Amino acid sequence: MKRETVKPVFFKGETALRTEAEAGYAASFVRFSTRHYSAEPISAPDREAVDALAVRINAFDDGIRAVPVYGAAPELFESFGYTKLSGVPAFLAILGKREKFADVKAGFYGEALCLALTRRNLKTCWVSGSIKKQMLKEYIEISRDERFLTSIVFGYGENRTPEAIAERRKRKPLDRIFAGELTDERTRKLMTCVQNAPSAINRQPWQYAKESGCLAVRKPVIPGGPFPEALDIGISMLHATFAGEALGMAGVWKKADGGNLAVFSMSAV
Ligand SMILES: Cc1cc2nc3c(=O)[nH]c(=O)nc-3n(C[C@H](O)[C@H](O)[C@H](O)COP(=O)(O)O)c2cc1C
Repeated sequence: MKRETVKPVFFKGETALRTEAEAGYAASFVRFSTRHYSAEPISAPDREAVDALAVRINAFDDGIRAVPVYGAAPELFESFGYTKLSGVPAFLAILGKREKFADVKAGFYGEALCLALTRRNLKTCWVSGSIKKQMLKEYIEISRDERFLTSIVFGYGENRTPEAIAERRKRKPLDRIFAGELTDERTRKLMTCVQNAPSAINRQPWQYAKESGCLAVRKPVIPGGPFPEALDIGISMLHATFAGEALGMAGVWKKADGGNLAVFSMSAV
């Protein structure tokens, strides 16, 4: 049988992002997708903050570029099988280099942005399908070695109580996303945060397990298409990073061989 070898660190920016793990962990429980916005333009302080967040993520130089776009035409958005977006005042285009793990990274860094926006009480929605890609060149420059991977629309909209958010959040039970017994309370809490992660068409394609004291995430089953599973998996990995740090078992994602995409070495397990 082939022995699994652990490879280098997955995300260059993971350690730096840990400083916002506790606040991001809390935000992960109150984030929800908003499709109807008040159309109010983004305020100057929010704009400054979002621009700075994008600059920070881009400075990690890890193959992902977030580009804030303000005041795009409403026609940029379509339904693509979803409720049509309305009143969207701004979005972050997430571009990635043409490399193997671009989607995973887009999910990881994009969700860090999404949760940072949530902390400012900006409403968000990940949008891969409901955006007309052919119109994007009117707003952003995409270099030849990059691809548009997804976007995060944001703005002002309906507030919901944490109870209402939790009640409306539909998720698979933990035993369908984690193989094995969740006997350890902190790992259960970490997995609850993973469970809350958003995914395209809410399909929650992630599969986690505990292996040799590490948390392992399986490779995506469906590689491409308009909604690559790798992107959703990257989002869930950010949730694990933030939860791990907040729960006192900080880890780091490393690439893995075999059926696993990556393993997260939890310090206190
Ligand atoms: C990568 C990704 C792409 C998505 N694309 C769209 C989209 O094109 N249109 C849309 O309305 N919602 C989109 N969503 C939002 C999901 O449908 C939503 O996150 C999921 O149903 C879970 O609901 P919640 O975010 O309220 O928890 C997308 C989500 C993710 C993570």
